[in-house]
Amino acid sequence: MSSFEEIIQTLKGVLHLIFAHFIIVPYYFFESFINLFVKKVPKSIRGEVVLITGAGHGIGKMLAKKYAIEGATVVCWDVNEEFNKATVEYLNKLGYNNVHGYKVDVTNRENVMEAAKNVKRNVGNVTILINNAGIMPHHSFLDHTEQEIRKIIDINVFGHFWTLQAFLPEMRRNNHGHVVCLSSMAGLVGANNLVPYNASKFAVRGLMEGLHEEFRQYPNNSVYFTTVYPFFVDTGLCKAAYFTYPALFKVLQPEYVAEKIYEAQIYNCRNLVLPPSMSVIVNSKMIFPDKANNYITENFKCEILSDLNLPNDKRLEN
Ligand SMILES: NC(=O)c1ccc[n+]([C@@H]2O[C@H](COP(=O)([O-])OP(=O)(O)OC[C@H]3O[C@@H](n4cnc5c(N)ncnc54)[C@H](O)[C@@H]3O)[C@@H](O)[C@H]2O)c1
Repeated sequence: MSSFEEIIQTLKGVLHLIFAHFIIVPYYFFESFINLFVKKVPKSIRGEVVLITGAGHGIGKMLAKKYAIEGATVVCWDVNEEFNKATVEYLNKLGYNNVHGYKVDVTNRENVMEAAKNVKRNVGNVTILINNAGIMPHHSFLDHTEQEIRKIIDINVFGHFWTLQAFLPEMRRNNHGHVVCLSSMAGLVGANNLVPYNASKFAVRGLMEGLHEEFRQYPNNSVYFTTVYPFFVDTGLCKAAYFTYPALFKVLQPEYVAEKIYEAQIYNCRNLVLPPSMSVIVNSKMIFPDKANNYITENFKCEILSDLNLPNDKRLEN
């Protein structure tokens, strides 16, 4: 390219950037504002088959309940057979019989592929996949063992890849589907005692951002992606939370989280931060000077203390 052509290209690029920022961006801000007052039509989930990993406990169990109540066919996956059975029986007792349980370890790709075939044969095509299974050992990076680091990445990251490989091709073929993945507030900001968990939840965010971009390229795409970033949830996953001002930062209930995830999914919401007020704090972290961020972190602590003083079996149970 000659230097003249280079100057013309640069000028064109700069003018286009100015146009995008001063005309297009304000236009879409205005459109989003107007949309706040327009009643949106939710997707119906009747007839959909929703598969939830980690359905034996906590948020996953509450998601299974919510989707069963709303009339979907629910497939519960968990490595813990006893907990998973308990979820299915609990929902059956409530009168929801369209609930199916499978013992699956999401870290084992063969196990995932085999179970996916069985689900397809016995239940039907999975149209909503909720990657929820996760663990969270919490202590300083220097105290994490190799085994723990591998396990965190295996469950919290690779588990998502294998279920996506099992179900996304069919969603793409039918141009119909929705993937929901549980990241965490720790997928948006760094936290004490959670370095490998942080890395795993940032990875989930990257995975979902990339998938969203890739699927957006397909003409008339109708496969959607929702990433969820919750603050502390009262499930027992986080065993030692500390807050300077507990009244300001409330631990969320799994029922509330499940309700909000369901809403985000039926309205095709791309990102869900819970509670929503937390997104202000997260975004301000990006623009505040370092020292201001440090002051806030040190004076308004929402920390997870080390779990190393808990009995060993409790830690690995995670
Ligand atoms: N609880 C919180 O404070 C919190 C906050 C933010 C994000 N999250 C995320 O939400 C998700 C659910 O968390 P939770 O608090 O309900 O956890 P939980 O411990 O209550 O439940 C997790 C379930 O996943 C299952 N599981 C673990 N390893 C598995 C594997 N290899 N294969 C299949 N199932 C497996 C467990 O048996 C368990 O039933 C996790 O991804 C977690 O990281 C939780």
